[in-house]
Amino acid sequence: MKTIIEPFKIKMVEPIKLTTSTEREARLRQAHFNVFQIPAEEVIIDLLTDSGTAAMSSEQWAGMIRGDESYAGARSWYRFEKVLKELTGMQHILPTHQGRASERILFELVGGAGKVIPNNNHFDTTRANIEHSGARAVDLVIGEGTQPQSRHPFKGNMDLEKLERLIAEVGAKNMPLCMMTVTNNSGGGQPVSLANLRAVKEICRRHGIPFFLDACRFAENAYLIKQREPGQGNQSARAIARTMFDLADGATISAKKDGLVNIGGVLLMRDDALAARANNLLILTEGFITYGGLAGRDLEAMAQGFTEVLDEHYLEYRLRSVAYLGEHLLSAGVQIVEPPGGHAIYIDARAFCPHIPAEQFPGQALVCALYRHAGIRAVEIGSVMFGAPDPQTGKATPPAMELVRLAIPRRVYTQSHIDYVVEAIIEILQKRESLSGLRIVEAPPVLRHFTAKFEEIG
Ligand code: F0G
Repeated sequence: MKTIIEPFKIKMVEPIKLTTSTEREARLRQAHFNVFQIPAEEVIIDLLTDSGTAAMSSEQWAGMIRGDESYAGARSWYRFEKVLKELTGMQHILPTHQGRASERILFELVGGAGKVIPNNNHFDTTRANIEHSGARAVDLVIGEGTQPQSRHPFKGNMDLEKLERLIAEVGAKNMPLCMMTVTNNSGGGQPVSLANLRAVKEICRRHGIPFFLDACRFAENAYLIKQREPGQGNQSARAIARTMFDLADGATISAKKDGLVNIGGVLLMRDDALAARANNLLILTEGFITYGGLAGRDLEAMAQGFTEVLDEHYLEYRLRSVAYLGEHLLSAGVQIVEPPGGHAIYIDARAFCPHIPAEQFPGQALVCALYRHAGIRAVEIGSVMFGAPDPQTGKATPPAMELVRLAIPRRVYTQSHIDYVVEAIIEILQKRESLSGLRIVEAPPVLRHFTAKFEEIG
């Protein structure tokens, strides 16, 4: 059979409220053209994020009931620790309430003024936590990683020469660690190859720099390696994931992605001394080391989720359903970041709205049009998210790409939901000249995309 089906049945459903365009127009204005401010009930298809939005399996829900809520040494903690140790081989497994809590602990320990931390592309919370510590966050993705049309199979790879140059420039002693985000969310959900991970690890090893993964989407990255990297086709996704973790000295994970849960995170490391310091901070701000700000039932759901996510029937369906959306948009003439990556399709908003200049936020204009036209919620990943003026210099640098991300929640939507999204985007494409640019009328200094207020121009 050629048709790849959802390898699950639906056991529980949640109704979707079908709004009218008059209702949506009013909502959008009330939200000051910022879809983060729209109640989820007023959204028909919510592609804002793939984070914390997965549908859990019956086994995960069964685990929720079995959860041991003891404060210290709960049975659920031991199960969680065992699953994570087998998956990653890391000695120290610290549970946290989500990815950014892991980042906050890590960068409070290794960051600080004068420190420089490279990544292929830092995710916004990673960058914000590094900068909050006083350190500098630097993006070193390969050139192809910023060209929407490039079909390079691993556009999340790091540019090795740029890494060598940065180390020479700032000195290895000022680089407390080097990170790699798999898959590269801010760069279009593109995977990183094993060859590139090995090469970066080797450079780090030569300079004595610890190598960490931001491994939120490790399973999708592993399956894309299986599909695209020569010589990896016969390896299991689990074996590839383990090879990725074996190269790293530590990792931060938001379990809200490939952990298939609604809340949870992990901080992993091999270094005993660093882990001891991290545990102290964990106790201070998250919770005791065997629950880290989570309930025992959350640890059960994560243990089960991190197991299920490596099921290759699931991963095949998952990557195929994302590619399905991407291929339909491409064939209708919508430029996306090619080839489709792991968890989302990213529309090139510069190409979609050539009449709207970057300073009028073409991505945000398209996000508003998607909501207005069909009640679809997407997120801008462009000048709104990354183009804020530097607090020190007051200078704004436009990002390399103006993207709109359609993130696909795991195991939530069916093919007809996706067909609806394709139809809506094609209809908007046909009337794209009518989309207006926006100006920001109010915004906080950091992470402004969540709360900024906009006004339409003209
Ligand atoms: N790193 C990456 C690569 C991420 O994509 C995210 C979250 C985080 C870290 C932070 O994790 O949300 O659990 O604190 N990404 C979500 C998204 C929010 O929509 O892409 P968190």
